[in-house]
Amino acid sequence: MSYLSNRVAGFGTTIFTEMTALAREHNAVNLGQGFPDFPAPDFIKEAAAKAISADINQYAPLPGSPRLRQAIADKTKRLYGREVDPNTQVQIVNGATEAIYATIQGVVNPGDEVIMFEPYYDSYVPCTTMAGGIPRYYTLRAPDWHIDRDELAKLFNDKTKLLIINTPHNPIGKVYTREELQMIADLCIEHDVLVMADEVYEHIVFDDAEHVQIASLPGMEERTITVSSIGKSFSVTGWKIGWTVTTPELNKAVFKAHQFIAFAVASPLQEASADALFHAEESDYYPWLAKMYQDKRDYLLSALNDAGFKTLTPQGAYYILLDISEMGRGNDVDFCRYLTKEVGVAAIPPSAFYSNPADGATIARLTFCKTDEMLAAAAERLQTLK
Ligand SMILES: Cc1ncc(COP(=O)(O)O)c(C=O)c1O
Repeated sequence: MSYLSNRVAGFGTTIFTEMTALAREHNAVNLGQGFPDFPAPDFIKEAAAKAISADINQYAPLPGSPRLRQAIADKTKRLYGREVDPNTQVQIVNGATEAIYATIQGVVNPGDEVIMFEPYYDSYVPCTTMAGGIPRYYTLRAPDWHIDRDELAKLFNDKTKLLIINTPHNPIGKVYTREELQMIADLCIEHDVLVMADEVYEHIVFDDAEHVQIASLPGMEERTITVSSIGKSFSVTGWKIGWTVTTPELNKAVFKAHQFIAFAVASPLQEASADALFHAEESDYYPWLAKMYQDKRDYLLSALNDAGFKTLTPQGAYYILLDISEMGRGNDVDFCRYLTKEVGVAAIPPSAFYSNPADGATIARLTFCKTDEMLAAAAERLQTLK
């Protein structure tokens, strides 16, 4: 007899584990996992050291540090024009990962349907099924990742409770336009469906793309739970400080789940995150971050194009997709193994982010959130393919 619950028995180990091990074994430049390999900014590290020295080391208040909630409310007002009450509309959680889990636990009942766009961030499906929800997929297709209103409308019915959107999108780099968001919003309002908006890459947008919060569209504030976190914006993915911003009623749903998932979140890191958000409000930090990543994106794109790869240019987040349909190296998993072993550059096969793996079989994901030296080393290895 297996001791595992039915809830978790079907979960495999993530593709990241296999690719990281393969990258190590072949001493490959690892452009697989999406975490920066360069130092976090001094101001956020110093703020964390100061908070620990000041003995902010005990359980944080259950809703989260008041300063951090205030900093999030300030930023929501300045950047997105939304007035939110930090005391009743902001909840601090352990990274966007817990925000996703707590939101779904807080609003989805067994049998409820949850619409998500694929490729999806890999926790959406298990979080949905652990709540007894049923995932419904809208497949985004390369090269333009267009959303067809009628096709999307077919997924809605009277069991639909929640729609999950991720913008800027991992892994396709799509930044949803205002028009697309409006079309999704209209359907959600028509069918009385809630939205969870995963916006962890909100500050990493390129060229003339603009990050729009779906919560800022008319009629959406009252049905949207916006999720974000400190990790991607301040290069501290190991901190796991995340948050939700929503209505007081939906905030209660997240709060009630969170109190029995984690109860509280690392106190000194919350204070340091508050300092970092206040610092960003008073400086050009976010434009600097976007420019830093745009330079890295452009460098890796040109190295890949130079080596003969067909690429899809991302408008946001920090991933580039390769179109491998004409490479003759098998599906995405075969190709990523080949690239890691033979070329010495590790990538991630996106079929793991689709309900039907065949839909992701012709693309491969590389990240550019790495030092210039690391990207140059990857470029050098890619040149050997010329
Ligand atoms: C789309 C998306 N959502 C959520 C997360 C998780 O964020 P956190 O590290 O804050 O838990 C990630 C991390 O890669 C992500 O890419």
